[in-house]
Order: sequence, then structure tokens, then C-alpha cells
Amino acid sequence: METGPFHYRSGALWCEDVELARVAGAFGTPVYVYSRDRILTNFHRIAGPMARLNGLACYSVKANSNLAILAILAQAGSGFDIVSGGELTRVLRAGAEPGRVVFSGVGKTTDEIDAALAAGVLMLNVESGGELDAVESRARHRGAGRAPVSIRINPDVEADTHPYISTGRTIHKFGVPKADALELYRRAVRSPHLEVRGIACHIGSQILDVGPFLRAVDEVLALARDLGSERIATEYLDLGGGFGIPYREERPFEFSGFFAELEHRFHGKGFRPLLEPGRSVIGDAGVLLVRVLYVKETESKRFIVVDGGMNDLLRPALYGSYHEILPLEHREGPRSAADVVGPLCETGDFLARDRSLGEFKPGDLLAVLGSGAYGFVLASNYNSRPKPAEVLIEGSEARLIRRRETTDELLAAEIP
Ligand code: LLP
Repeated sequence: METGPFHYRSGALWCEDVELARVAGAFGTPVYVYSRDRILTNFHRIAGPMARLNGLACYSVKANSNLAILAILAQAGSGFDIVSGGELTRVLRAGAEPGRVVFSGVGKTTDEIDAALAAGVLMLNVESGGELDAVESRARHRGAGRAPVSIRINPDVEADTHPYISTGRTIHKFGVPKADALELYRRAVRSPHLEVRGIACHIGSQILDVGPFLRAVDEVLALARDLGSERIATEYLDLGGGFGIPYREERPFEFSGFFAELEHRFHGKGFRPLLEPGRSVIGDAGVLLVRVLYVKETESKRFIVVDGGMNDLLRPALYGSYHEILPLEHREGPRSAADVVGPLCETGDFLARDRSLGEFKPGDLLAVLGSGAYGFVLASNYNSRPKPAEVLIEGSEARLIRRRETTDELLAAEIP
């Protein structure tokens, strides 16, 4: 498996030019560690072709919203896809240009709509007639110009991914059915408080095939054409995110083929494509480091109990996701099946199941790969566990970008 910036040197696992055992020693475990270089390489792989298409890559903040990471991307010229007032605050604080921010999500509150209008975002991707009314009414109330909107359509495209993260069928809560979109656009152009900027869609996450994306693109282009014939102009066609990454042996998403198809479809039409990649920018740029606490053998299983669990990295418990586990100290020797489990009081608290792993003893360190996306952001305080620290590797430097939460902070908001 391709392990990106994480590689062995003389039997020790490194990230860029830093030995990971040193990071665990300096900052403790569990700790998330990210490679700046990998984030930027991943970003430019998408942003480069998008710039040539006169489009924009809007990093999807929900995948990993650490301010230091957002700042790196903002400096690299990224736009942002946000889904809450909290994410809006984050991107503005990280130095994002508001005119490069798109606001997605089915449940925007009036406060969030007001904040987005005040900030001057590029567009609100509206997901229902009710929301269109709400945006119109807030814009009228503000009396400071038209609210920029696009309507997120549900293209009814099947994507082969986990059912919890598939979004583009009509059984899903996202977007409006294609059949209703036209009417909403007619309503929007008639309003003196709204400005139609584009069309949006997003079909799901961790999709490895190019096919479903192209089917969605064709739906969006067909709607743009229909709108055009009614003199409703749509400049930005937001095609969402969802590009999958290999977690084990899967074939990577074929960006070059995808962009060639986009080029072909957009050529000469004057539309500007937007993408909202999250996982494909940050997923393989991050690992979670954990330390072995105990090794426990029962009649049927070997358990490696580590100091990080489902509250730190929820994906295995929630989706049954596979994350590669590598020891920080490489060693030859016999392997046998083991579960890598956390300290929480749930059977679902595991990081790996029935994995062929070597011998471990208390104190050994492990890296859980592919943890950069939907890792820290899904962390919780379940079992009153403080959230882990986050560290950014920049060449030979390791920089703390979020200190470990303390138990006092965890209790601070409670009123006894
Ligand atoms: N745009 C919209 C409107 C989205 O809903 C999402 C993800 C993205 C962009 C970014 O998708 P990406 O490029 O990261 O696939 N927690 C799950 C993933 C949930 C994705 C939710 N929406 C996981 O850990 O796999």
C-alpha cells in the first residue's frame, strides 16, 4: 500500500523528516499528525486543473477544520465549502477570502444565513423551497443587496459507497429533486432580493469511480442548459466533493481522466466549475498515533489495548472502516490475528479487527493511517476523555497545532 509521506527509515516510521516516535514522546498519545507537504500536493492536484478550467477548488472544511490546516490552504488559494456558522468563523479566522466560500447544508439557521450574507460568501447552496424563502427574507431584512444563491439538486445518481455517506439519490435528505429545481430557479430570479449564481450537487463521499461523478455533471449541465433557455444564467456549477482515497488496496480515483472529461464537457460553454474536495486533500496526509497499554489474550482472540479509541477516531466503529495500522518500530517476526481496541466501554470501540499483526508489548507505538479526514473532527468526549492533540509536520519541524484538551476544560461549561 502507498503510505504517502509516512515511510520507514532504518526500521523507524517517519513523516517527512521527523521520526514519529519523537512526536509521540514530545506531545504524548493519542495524537494526530499531519504532513503539510502532502496536504499541499493533494490540494494542487485538484486546484491546478480547476484553475485551468477557470474554476475553483473549495476545500470541504468538515473533513478537517484545524485552523492551521485551513490557513495553509487559504494561503495556497483554496476556496472553502462550509456547512455551519462555526465553520464560517473558522475559515474567516484562517484568512479565507469570503468570495471563495460556498455554504452547503440542509439546515441553515437564520443566524447562519445572516452571518454568511454579512461575510459576503460566494453563494449559499440552497437545499429546499423553505430555505430559499428564508434566505430571501433575511436578504430583504438586511436591505444590503441581493443574496447570492445556487440550488443544490439531487441528481438521483447511484454511487458505490457506504450507505451512510451516499447522498445523491432521491431517498436522501439532500438537495431538491431535479423536477422541482426549475420552479425554484424561476422563483429565485423573480425575487429582487436574490441573485442566482449557480447550480450545486454532491453525490456522496469515498467514491472511487469517475462514472457517477460524470453522470451528475451531465445532469447539472442539462439543467444549466434548460435554465439558459429561460434566460436564467448560472455561472458556477458546483459539482461537490466525494473523491475517494485508497484505505487498503483500492485503485485510487483517476483525477487525470476525470479532469480530461470535465475539460471536454465544459469547453467553450462559459461555466465555471467548483469542486468541494475534503478527504482527497487531507485523508492520507494524517495518522493517529496511539500507544499500547496492554496485550490481552483470550481463548479466541488477541487484543491489543491502546490509549486511543472510538472517541478519538470514530470511523471504524461508525462505518466499519478499514485503517492500515503500522508499528512505529518495524520488526520482522511472526504475525497473527489481533484486534486493536481502545479503552472505552463499548464493544464497537476498535481501530482494527482480525488484523494480521506482529508481537507487541506495552509502551509500543502504532500509527493508524488514513486518519487525516473525518478523524479529529468526529472526536468526542465520550467516557470523559479529553480530545487528542494535533501536530503538523513541516519538513524537519513538528509544530503543535492543537494542544491536548484538559479535563478541566472538559468540565468548564457544566453548572453543578
Ligand atoms: N460537499 C458536501 C456537500 C458534502 O456533504 C461533503 C461531505 C463534501 C463536500 C466532502 O466530501 P469528501 O470530498 O470529503 O468526500 N464522515 C464520513 C464522510 C462524510 C462526508 C459528508 N459530506 C467518513 O468518515 O467517511
